[in-house]
Amino acid sequence: MEEDIKTTSAPWKQIANMWNTYFTSPSRISQDENKKYKEWLREIKKGKIKALVLGVTPEIREALIALDYEITCIDINKEMILAMDSVLKVKSPNEVVINENWLENSLMDNTFDVVIGDCVLSNVKWEERDKLLLEIKRVLKPNGIFITRFFSIPREKPFKTINKLLEHFSKKEFNYKSALELVFELQIFCYNSEDHKGTFSEPKKVLEKFRVKNNFNFESKNLNKILDIVWNFWCEKYLNKIYYYPYRDEEEQRIKKFFEILKIYEAKDHNYSKITPMYFLKK
Ligand SMILES: C[S@@+](CC[C@H](N)C(=O)[O-])C[C@H]1O[C@@H](n2cnc3c(N)ncnc32)[C@H](O)[C@@H]1O
Repeated sequence: MEEDIKTTSAPWKQIANMWNTYFTSPSRISQDENKKYKEWLREIKKGKIKALVLGVTPEIREALIALDYEITCIDINKEMILAMDSVLKVKSPNEVVINENWLENSLMDNTFDVVIGDCVLSNVKWEERDKLLLEIKRVLKPNGIFITRFFSIPREKPFKTINKLLEHFSKKEFNYKSALELVFELQIFCYNSEDHKGTFSEPKKVLEKFRVKNNFNFESKNLNKILDIVWNFWCEKYLNKIYYYPYRDEEEQRIKKFFEILKIYEAKDHNYSKITPMYFLKK
């Protein structure tokens, strides 16, 4: 297996059956983002048109089914295809799911009216971002639309020290959402703009220093429980995964080389929408 696929795409296999529990907004599509995806898809739906989904994200497929799109999905991991099928609330008998790499695939040129994929760019190596954008352009019809959301890193890190970061989370309720937000913050805290990597190994090293006899022992019981999830799931099961994150302005510049930006949306229902904006783009 190629080295980059081992760290960017294959780790999804390990967590496929746990995705529905551990992936909450803002990693997963929030309600408001879901509403916006549906609105944009409704807006461009004229007659029988073809959509390509990058990945097998259930919310996107359900929206396309409701609008009677012809749907093709492409995902490299069989495990994710099966796991997401079991989460889908409605199924389409006509949907085609292709088990292939976005970067090397058998899709024909000029085939789709719309390509849609939630936070896909962070799943390919930094050097392959342009290649993915070119692939999307290649399979889109002239004037085709690309709809996506991306993860980015704020130029100013919100927490200067790990103690301040953990203190902030000690006041949070214990749930999977708090755990995911803590993971997000740890990745931002550890981010190095030289390599653009969002890893779980760096956060793990940072947290390791707070372990006492294989446990977290903060005064806040909630913080200990949130950290247990971060440690046991994100820093163990998903340890080998590497995301690649840009700064938002840098990513917009890149996108403009390939697409015209027609609309940008920042969700109203979570605190990370400035760094997880949604884009409606024209080829
Ligand atoms: C659509 S992305 C991101 C979804 C979600 N918003 C998140 O970040 O949790 C996740 C999906 O992409 C798939 N994937 C990752 N890299 C891929 C690649 N190079 N080719 C095809 N599928 C890929 C994974 O198997 C997974 O099902």
